[in-house]
Amino acid sequence: MRHVRETSCPEETERLGEEMAARLRPGDVVALTGEIGAGKTCLTRGLARGVGATTAARSPTFVLMHRHELDGASHVLYHLDLYRLDSADELEDIGGADVLHGDDICVVEWAERADDLLPADVFRVHIECLDGDARRLTVTGPRRLLPDD
Ligand SMILES: Nc1ncnc2c1ncn2[C@@H]1O[C@H](COP(=O)(O)OP(=O)(O)OP(=O)(O)O)[C@@H](O)[C@H]1O
Ligand SMILES: [Mg+2]
Repeated sequence: MRHVRETSCPEETERLGEEMAARLRPGDVVALTGEIGAGKTCLTRGLARGVGATTAARSPTFVLMHRHELDGASHVLYHLDLYRLDSADELEDIGGADVLHGDDICVVEWAERADDLLPADVFRVHIECLDGDARRLTVTGPRRLLPDD
């Protein structure tokens, strides 16, 4: 399943993330790709808010993985940013491989750096920069995540 959506500002990307979150289920993994500044963290902020995260998603700087408790849910959200990942071993060492195959929701920036560790039923969101603040999001996965037009 493949769907495409364009946004024209950061707020719109964040709101789209919030809407997509309503369709996420425990155990889902969302793999984000796109160049620096494409809007992966921006979309993650919306996804996090949409699934009820009690703490705001941000760029994890030197931390590879952030854990967010979710309001009224027994599962949590893991936000991984693999930009600084040196090897897949490093991710396995911090428990990332287990998290990616567990019962929580995972959102992974720079997911291509650990492609071998992603589950087969992963959702992929590729963000391309168009002119100015326009972005194109291409979403693939086992179910529809983008809201209907
Ligand atoms: N339509 C848009 N959607 C998302 N971000 C946008 C858009 N237009 C402009 N921006 C700007 O692009 C930047 C996106 O930053 P963000 O940190 O989300 O990118 P990123 O893909 O996570 O980058 P990195 O690879 O460094 O983690 C922000 O400065 C944001 O304001
Ligand atoms: Mg980012």
